[in-house]
Amino acid sequence: MRILVVGTGAREHAICQSIAKDAELYSIMSKHNPGISRISKFHISNENDIPSVEKYALENKVDMAIIGPEAPLEKGIVNSLEKKGIKCVGPTKEAARIETDKEFMRNLFQDYNINGSLVYKVFDNVQDAGKFIKDFDKDVVVKPIGLTGGKGVKIVGEHLKDAEDAKNYAKEVIDNKIGGHARVVIEERLIGEEFTVQALVDGDHLIPMPAAQDHPHAYEGDIGPITGGMGSYSDKNGLLPFLDKKSYLESVKIMEETIKAIKTEVGPYKGILYGQFMLCNDGPRLVEYNARFGDPEAMNVLPLINSSFVDLCEDIVDGTLRTANFKPLATVCKYIVPNGYPLNAEGSNQVLNINENKINELGALIYYAAVNQNNNEIYTSSSRALALVAMDDNIADAEKVCEASTQYVKGEVYHRRDVGTLKLIEKRIQHMHEIKSI
Ligand code: GLY
Repeated sequence: MRILVVGTGAREHAICQSIAKDAELYSIMSKHNPGISRISKFHISNENDIPSVEKYALENKVDMAIIGPEAPLEKGIVNSLEKKGIKCVGPTKEAARIETDKEFMRNLFQDYNINGSLVYKVFDNVQDAGKFIKDFDKDVVVKPIGLTGGKGVKIVGEHLKDAEDAKNYAKEVIDNKIGGHARVVIEERLIGEEFTVQALVDGDHLIPMPAAQDHPHAYEGDIGPITGGMGSYSDKNGLLPFLDKKSYLESVKIMEETIKAIKTEVGPYKGILYGQFMLCNDGPRLVEYNARFGDPEAMNVLPLINSSFVDLCEDIVDGTLRTANFKPLATVCKYIVPNGYPLNAEGSNQVLNINENKINELGALIYYAAVNQNNNEIYTSSSRALALVAMDDNIADAEKVCEASTQYVKGEVYHRRDVGTLKLIEKRIQHMHEIKSI
């Protein structure tokens, strides 16, 4: 089977790696990712340029396409490819609104009475938004309606100082149409521990994958600017040290009800559904959905798949998804990022020296992200460079291997040494105890 993977990053490298042995692999990427290029026939092109992706797919007679990032989904890549007879792992642009239209998502919860929602209101008027924020008795989160490349959501207490700051930002979103609309969602700020559940979805059936936890803050101790994610971990039982089975299953139920509601509203959802949840004192609440694998969380779950991922992709597109097996192992993923990330480009365009043999000898996996291969050198860009992943019997051992592997990447880069460490996990457990006792 000929499979086209669309996308350039570590998530797409992990997808490619999972199917490389069972398929003839093609890829479209906007930069020369050295991990993807060595296992696929590839074309360097803008992955959001739908006619060009379609042309490449048709020229190469691909049978199926797997869409990595959200932007081409919003542009209707699946609608276009399906019209040409190419089956897609990824939702249509209508179904992808679960990520690309935050008003649609919150209204779906309300209209279909799905558990796990929160207090929210949508505004297109600056005065009304300001009054709501001023009168609301809790901190708020200000969200543009549409996609902002992870940079649009701002939280009082994190990116915003207080209600005044929130009002100003809501005005900025409306006035400047941040996220593509002169509208803004104001939500209550949830207090708890965040976790991710990713699921395979065939339109009707949903198979959840092991839960994972990302680390969005740039620096150790969960401080500093918010990034695309500095690393993540998962546990061998599919739960997390602070996440009990009941709460995990409640999250899965929320996702199942969501795909039913999407089907009724706009047609079936096929692909990967990423649920970002907050475990609060009354159970899990939905923070947001993504219509794709998470990055870095894809790297926690894809290496654990015990059967053929190609078979699972076929089940997704054919509507025959029933079971999937995951290795009972813990995983730790750490991103190596250029110095200055995400604030400035201090460490970008620098040569990276990566001793892949030593990393492999340790048993760790390498997934390349926003790097550029030029001749035989690998250069950083201003974004995350590569992810290192280790799997082991428990999180602590996986963390040790993952951390040891970081010494074999040399350049103008840094990483968070604390991701997956017992000390940080203890802090999460303690935080959850405090939340539950409120
Ligand atoms: N881990 C955050 C994301 O994938 O958007």
